[in-house]
Amino acid sequence: MDAIPFLFSIFLLSTMAANSQACEKSSCHRSELEIRFPFRLEDHQPESCGYPGFDLSCDATMQTILKLPSGEFSVQGIDYGTQEIWINDPKNCLPRLILSLNLSGSSFRGVYYHNYSFFKCSADYRLDSIACLSDDNYTVFATDSSRVINFLSPVCDLIKSVMVPAELPFYDPVWTSDLSSDLLLSWGAPRCGDCEMEGGRCGFRSNSSLEIGCFDVPKRGLPRTARYAITVGVGIPALMCFVGLLCFLCGRVKAFGGRRRPIAEFTSMVTPQPTAVMGLDGPTIESYPKVVLGESRRLPKPDDNTCSICLSEYRPKETLKIIPECQHCFHSECIDEWLHLNASCPICRNSPAKSPPSQSHENGPNF
Ligand SMILES: *[C@@H]1O[C@H](CO)[C@@H](O)[C@H](O)[C@H]1NC(C)=O
Ligand SMILES: *[C@@H]1O[C@H](CO)[C@@H](O)[C@H](O)[C@H]1NC(C)=O
Ligand SMILES: *[C@@H]1O[C@H](CO)[C@@H](O)[C@H](O)[C@H]1NC(C)=O
Ligand SMILES: *[C@@H]1O[C@H](CO)[C@@H](O)[C@H](O)[C@H]1NC(C)=O
Repeated sequence: MDAIPFLFSIFLLSTMAANSQACEKSSCHRSELEIRFPFRLEDHQPESCGYPGFDLSCDATMQTILKLPSGEFSVQGIDYGTQEIWINDPKNCLPRLILSLNLSGSSFRGVYYHNYSFFKCSADYRLDSIACLSDDNYTVFATDSSRVINFLSPVCDLIKSVMVPAELPFYDPVWTSDLSSDLLLSWGAPRCGDCEMEGGRCGFRSNSSLEIGCFDVPKRGLPRTARYAITVGVGIPALMCFVGLLCFLCGRVKAFGGRRRPIAEFTSMVTPQPTAVMGLDGPTIESYPKVVLGESRRLPKPDDNTCSICLSEYRPKETLKIIPECQHCFHSECIDEWLHLNASCPICRNSPAKSPPSQSHENGPNF
């Protein structure tokens, strides 16, 4: 449904973009965070450069600040493509802000929610307490574990249960959390994500309405004659090469007697769907928990910060997937590809398959 206005914008609006040309990107001094539509930096960008409810400001220490009805947060990251924002407490006591968090009346919603219960306990309980909420006379804990709640309930006072829009389910073995990792929020309107993904510039179409448009999308089309020349000059030889490669690979698959699959890189890139799939089925793979890493890169297993499949280190905002049975985690794309081919965890080799064998096995050849 979005496709028609979007295509429309590609072809027409790039010529009508003059009115929002004045909006330069901005950022708080010394911050790498780029502020642009729908966000606007007060005192740096004119009011017409931001969507209502998306005003940011710089504080005295030059942090980027987002004012929500329930408090002021520091902005740690913005993903304009997925329409997500990571926030924390500029005063380093996020649990205090969480206790009064109320997103209604703001443009933002949580992406994942976790039900945390806050307890006030006597000063005898020190371990893992939230330091900035505790003092000499009592300590404060937050936990989402029902086991810990059952343990604390008889000996401590329940302050409040809060749905926390935290980005990570805290799989750590620790029994309470200090809740200091960024909160992850997303916004629905304005929908600039598609435009951002296309490399375009999102903005108001006019001064008089909130209607948005996508401008300056990098041109992908070429003049018709050039396209024709490229089709004939490059496309046909490329197609022939591709067909040749396919034949070559088919030959290889046959040479393996149809019993063993060629190495994974080949299969995932070029060969058609192989007849015998040894991996898990799509719905099972889809059902595994996913987490998006925060700026703090808090990991379910803090000691392994490298994806064992691609051997690259995890970076903020990457999506990881966790194999529930053994809690090993990997880049989501890496493990998806792996599990399609192998039904076992690449680290511990335990088979995570719990569901019955997938249907696709049944029409495969007999081994
Ligand atoms: C959040 O704020 C809205 C008004 O802005 C209020 O109606 C609602 O009760 C509040 N929710 C909580 C849980 O305090
Ligand atoms: C959150 O957890 C507490 C304690 O287990 C429970 O009483 C409360 O109903 C839960 N809240 C929600 C919204 O699930
Ligand atoms: C702790 O309690 C004592 C006695 O009730 C009181 O005098 C003291 O001010 C309290 N300390 C703090 C930090 O609230
Ligand atoms: C829109 O508003 C900006 C700033 O208020 C102004 O410079 C510009 O001329 C206006 N454009 C139109 C088309 O009214």
